[in-house]
Amino acid sequence: MISPSLLSADFSNLKKDIEMINESSAYSFHLDIMDGVFVPNISFGFPIIDIVKKYGKKKLDVHLMIIEPDKYIEKFKNAGADILTVHYETCKHLHRTVQNIKNFGMKVGVSLNPHTSIYNLEDIIKDLDIVLIMSVNPGFGGQKFIENTYEKVKNLKNLIKNKKAKTLIEIDGGVNLKNAKKLKECGADILVAGNFIFKSKNPKNTINNLKNIFN
Ligand code: DX5
Ligand code: ZN
Repeated sequence: MISPSLLSADFSNLKKDIEMINESSAYSFHLDIMDGVFVPNISFGFPIIDIVKKYGKKKLDVHLMIIEPDKYIEKFKNAGADILTVHYETCKHLHRTVQNIKNFGMKVGVSLNPHTSIYNLEDIIKDLDIVLIMSVNPGFGGQKFIENTYEKVKNLKNLIKNKKAKTLIEIDGGVNLKNAKKLKECGADILVAGNFIFKSKNPKNTINNLKNIFN
């Protein structure tokens, strides 16, 4: 599955990019919410999500890079989030946060920074719909893919198998056609891509080319 990150979209004509994704083989819209505290950047909030919800015909895959995400779970549900992903590094009581998200009827994801071990999720993996592995340091689009990600994905895939969990693996940061195939072979189920899609000549074709890796 492909989840294009709107962070690299043209915000002066967002509707056009939303419609392009509607017509593509993408699975969802990846929405990066940054608070300027957990990550050194501020992105966008509810007014933009409302526009994506209004015109978008795919699922909303919301990636929260904010401290104290619990405060906003209900707001993101009301805004139309289908998948809500929080960062492991921002949750003191991750189990409680995960159950809260599920209780609101959303799929739940937990994201790991490049330095965070997948084994931190051993005791909660069965409760997770998605683990989002950051393959760059969160905060910005267009960064270089971190090579250690492959090993992390393989280890996570094994952990999921051993625990008999049904968790999907999503990769976010620096994804392109060069690393996508290997990521799939290591066990990735969902690929996020921003820069690679929106800076390409034909974004819709680029989404299809990424998607074809899974066929
Ligand atoms: C980074 C975000 C990513 C970002 C990916 O913090 O979580 O979703 O938009 O962008 P690219 O694909 O350009 O690395
Ligand atoms: Zn993201």
